[in-house]
Amino acid sequence: MASYCSFKPSLLFLLFFIATSQATDSNTTHLHFFVHENDNSPNATAITVVNSTTSNPGGFGSIAVFDDELREGSSADSKLIGRAQGIAPEVSLSGPMAWLGLLNFVFTDGEYNGSSLTVVGRATLEGATERSIIAGTGKFRMARGYTINTFVSGAPAGHFIVEYNAYIEQ
Ligand SMILES: *[C@@H]1O[C@H](CO)[C@@H](O)[C@H](O)[C@H]1NC(C)=O
Ligand SMILES: *[C@@H]1O[C@H](CO)[C@@H](O)[C@H](O)[C@H]1NC(C)=O
Ligand SMILES: *[C@@H]1O[C@H](CO)[C@@H](O)[C@H](O)[C@H]1NC(C)=O
Ligand SMILES: *[C@@H]1O[C@H](CO)[C@@H](O)[C@H](O)[C@H]1NC(C)=O
Repeated sequence: MASYCSFKPSLLFLLFFIATSQATDSNTTHLHFFVHENDNSPNATAITVVNSTTSNPGGFGSIAVFDDELREGSSADSKLIGRAQGIAPEVSLSGPMAWLGLLNFVFTDGEYNGSSLTVVGRATLEGATERSIIAGTGKFRMARGYTINTFVSGAPAGHFIVEYNAYIEQ
């Protein structure tokens, strides 16, 4: 009985210590980069692998697969730092067009070379898009957070540049 009583407070103390030490050790990383996508063949970085089987104007049910470039800047010759690899089914029956994005940012240069972030969420063509960072690997192991992206350019035709800010907590 005596040992039971003395055990209980120390367990509570231990749980309290774990909770507070996790809170104080967390860090936030802010990344800023640009995704460059080319829909034109040859050298397309994104392809439609399934077309919509309905007459839905937004292409409900179509599925794209992409392996886009991650660059430091918006210019085509700025430093390549990784890839944005994923899939995007069109998931809106009655406009505006919306995609369920499931992708990995795979870093291949710089401080985060070899690390990755997994992003899931809804994308539209309207304004800034916010999506969740649900996981990461390497230096981003146990990551969570969010990305905000805004459309920069759609010219020349079939070439898209999108600016990303990513906020990562670990
Ligand atoms: C496609 O990529 C190859 C290899 O990088 C390059 O030589 C060629 O010019 C590119 N073609 C177009 C149309 O961009
Ligand atoms: C989807 O439709 C486009 C336009 O009609 C066509 O060029 C393309 O080959 C189709 N893709 C698939 C995977 O069926
Ligand atoms: C990134 O890491 C890989 C694997 O360690 C290495 O082979 C490659 O040279 C690195 N790239 C750069 C640009 O540092
Ligand atoms: C954030 O903190 C964790 C735990 O201390 C560490 O492993 C990780 O490398 C840090 N992340 C960055 C991006 O500095």
